[in-house]
Amino acid sequence: MTNRYPDHVKITEVGPRDGLQNEKTFVTTDVKLRLIDLLVKSGIKYIEATSFVSPKWVPQMADATSIVEAIQKYTDIHFPVLTPNLQGFDNAIAAGAKEVAIFAAASETFSQKNINCSIEDSINRFKPLLVKAQQLRIPVRGYISCVLGCPYEGEIKTSQVDAVCQQLLEAGCYEISLGDTIGVGTPIKTSRLLGTLLKTINPSTLAVHFHDTYGQALANILISLQHGIANIDSAVGGLGGCPYAKGATGNVATEDVVYMLNGMGIDTGIDLNKLLQANQFIFNKLGRQTNSKVAIASGQLKN
Ligand code: HMG
Ligand code: MG
Repeated sequence: MTNRYPDHVKITEVGPRDGLQNEKTFVTTDVKLRLIDLLVKSGIKYIEATSFVSPKWVPQMADATSIVEAIQKYTDIHFPVLTPNLQGFDNAIAAGAKEVAIFAAASETFSQKNINCSIEDSINRFKPLLVKAQQLRIPVRGYISCVLGCPYEGEIKTSQVDAVCQQLLEAGCYEISLGDTIGVGTPIKTSRLLGTLLKTINPSTLAVHFHDTYGQALANILISLQHGIANIDSAVGGLGGCPYAKGATGNVATEDVVYMLNGMGIDTGIDLNKLLQANQFIFNKLGRQTNSKVAIASGQLKN
């Protein structure tokens, strides 16, 4: 661990996917596309656009093909999409996707509930997808859920996270995003996990994906930065939750992350004021208040 911070942090905005996947009422494709457009205008270069999962499992993502077709007009933005199996991968590529993400878990029970198979089966299912992706030169990101705790099993061993991480990297993922799916992680736990993983993994290969259920996300991000990780997932306005992790609230808010990083002199390339416009747009459409402390404070300070 070091107190030297990176000069630049890559933000992967997961609002259109992780943020919206749990919304009960269908958010129209036009609204999703307008949100993506506002996020692009704010300067974000990595936006997880949608997921090619079963619409029976996650109805909100049923318009994945239309979303990916429509975003082909942006030529300089990375739009990874979630693909749980070859079927999803093929559909994503047919629609025009150029980057995908697969998602495994460090918890057996969560793996079953989320993708209907064991961890081992999931890795075996991902292998042909990774081979095909390599042939097509499609970069594949790997997610691991429940790295700091599981809604069904509670504590998850660090060695289990390490094992899944190694397998996904060996199978060909270029980067692993560590998901604190239910936001139970605390800074010391985060530090212990990263300390173990970084014994064999380069920090540039890891991203962190904190949900803010217990208000610990920014503290955990600070610890991650101190471990040399410069790759952070977040969602505009703190949107989100996982349909298979009951009670889990949204991702850490992108605005709150950008505000913290701005205060530390760390560049993200994101214009906070423009990001706040994306926030205002989507929460107006959803008809409720944002979860971003920075967005709330900016609104109140202006009035
Ligand atoms: P299954 O039922 O075991 O799949 O679901 P199956 O292969 O037996 O197929 C059953 C039916 O699903 C068939 O249709 C297939 O065609 C269809 P039927 O013959 O019954 O009409 N099907 C598909 N349809 C569209 N796209 C596909 C697809 N695959 C099969 N790709 C499956 C297995 C993985 C598909 C299912 O469990 C699933 O879709 N799960 C997704 C759950 C999900 O999206 N969870 C949220 C994302 S993960 C997350 O949020 C965590 C993360 O943010 C990190 C963190 O915070 O921890 C990433
Ligand atoms: Mg998530």
